[in-house]
Amino acid sequence: MSDPGAAAADGRAQPLAVVVLISGRGSNMQALIEASRDPALRFRVARVFSDKASAPGLEAARRLGVPAEALVAAGRERADFDRELAERIEREQPALIAMAGFMRILSAPFIERFAGRMLNIHPSLLPRYPGLRTHARALAAGDREHGATVHFVTETLDGGPAVLQARVPVRADDDEARLAARVLACEHRIYPLAVRWFCEGRLRQHAGRAWFDGAPLDAPLQYEDLRPCA
Ligand code: GAR
Repeated sequence: MSDPGAAAADGRAQPLAVVVLISGRGSNMQALIEASRDPALRFRVARVFSDKASAPGLEAARRLGVPAEALVAAGRERADFDRELAERIEREQPALIAMAGFMRILSAPFIERFAGRMLNIHPSLLPRYPGLRTHARALAAGDREHGATVHFVTETLDGGPAVLQARVPVRADDDEARLAARVLACEHRIYPLAVRWFCEGRLRQHAGRAWFDGAPLDAPLQYEDLRPCA
């Protein structure tokens, strides 16, 4: 894999390769591809992989000119699948792997192989609501705010160091779909920003923490401190 820090330091204009992993719709993947067209953001989505052949995001990626392929996980040994996925990813020499609605748990050897170079986006204000059905759980708990988090990937499900959050007020008339739509719109803003920071060498995972501009983060950055989201 290339070293994003080195590329950023020597001022080369070469965009860094990012591989995106999806399982479904791929709207976050599309947000990353669209953002990468801005030459000020020094990354390109080199390839998209899905663990499901039926993922609509595969066709969406191809329409946007990005090679996309399924590596079907069903019926395969986890270690075997993860090894093949890792090998295929490495052919792209990516600086970063961005998980975007990739709904499969990856094994420890895979995560160790790409440690510090994997980001994920999750639809909740982590550490609240790791796992599934986050919007329904936030509504059931009567939360007044909900949101999304970009975090580094570690072996703990949705538990790696958090980088950036967007907070979304919960409205009295919200249902799961309405709340999910507003959170998703925020996801599409924060994920390209975090990927941009990583590719500029501003964002790192080191010693079990996320670091931004050379300092460890005690808490994730808040998008609202930068600009309002929802
Ligand atoms: C997004 O809301 C993403 O945060 C979530 O799946 C959705 C995928 O949508 N990911 C997770 O829940 C991972 N734990 P998309 O395919 O349209 O980007």
